[in-house]
Amino acid sequence: MRIGNNVKLGVNIDHIATLRQARRDIDPDPVAAAQVARSAGADMIVTHLRRDRRHIQDDDLMKLAKLKGDLHLEMADTPEMLAIALRAGPASVCVVPESAKEVTTEGGLDLRNGSKSLAKTVAKLKKAGIEVSLFIDPEAGGVRAAKALGADTIELCTTAYCSAGNKAKIQAELERLELAGYLAHEMNLNLHAGHGLDYHNVQAVSRIPHLSALNIGFSIVARSVFVGLKAAVVEMKHLIN
Ligand code: PXP
Repeated sequence: MRIGNNVKLGVNIDHIATLRQARRDIDPDPVAAAQVARSAGADMIVTHLRRDRRHIQDDDLMKLAKLKGDLHLEMADTPEMLAIALRAGPASVCVVPESAKEVTTEGGLDLRNGSKSLAKTVAKLKKAGIEVSLFIDPEAGGVRAAKALGADTIELCTTAYCSAGNKAKIQAELERLELAGYLAHEMNLNLHAGHGLDYHNVQAVSRIPHLSALNIGFSIVARSVFVGLKAAVVEMKHLIN
């Protein structure tokens, strides 16, 4: 069994743009940040084009899509975002829930009642050669529903694990992630995880069997303020492998 190695790191550069948007200026440039992250060992660049454009802008996305290497786009299931994704042509898309008032993504997609729109979105993205991931909470029902919708990959939401307040709760959340991961593997789904991961809590998640990638943003950008983006990415890569 693989023990915590070969896990790819997707570096989410949205919060570089959050800083730029604080002044509506041109610096710091998320495209330049993507290049630094890549040179430091990021396996994928991750970005979330939100409907309210609070950080990444359409123009950033188009530039990011032209860079060498894989771009992973997070987006809500809306006709606008689907059209943009098809135009940008990232290597992969992760469909996430999005609500206007949230500070950040609050949890996985609710797939309990199925979704005609989501099934169509998945089919259109796949037809364009884009790998499709669905962001879900670590529950068997969500894994099965993601498979039924035609996803290639699931990304397990690690928010509950990251916010668990004591050892017993952390262990219970880790087990939920592992169980969902086993089921995903049995169903031939690629397994990603992310949200809220940092330098203190990432290692246990990186050892989940069958995990192929972690998508991490805020903690890396926050650490980069003190050590620089390159060192922040190198440190995270070191921890997960
Ligand atoms: N995965 C998904 C699906 C997300 O929406 C986000 C936030 O954009 C992340 C991972 C990264 O989360 P964080 O910034 O907390 O590392």
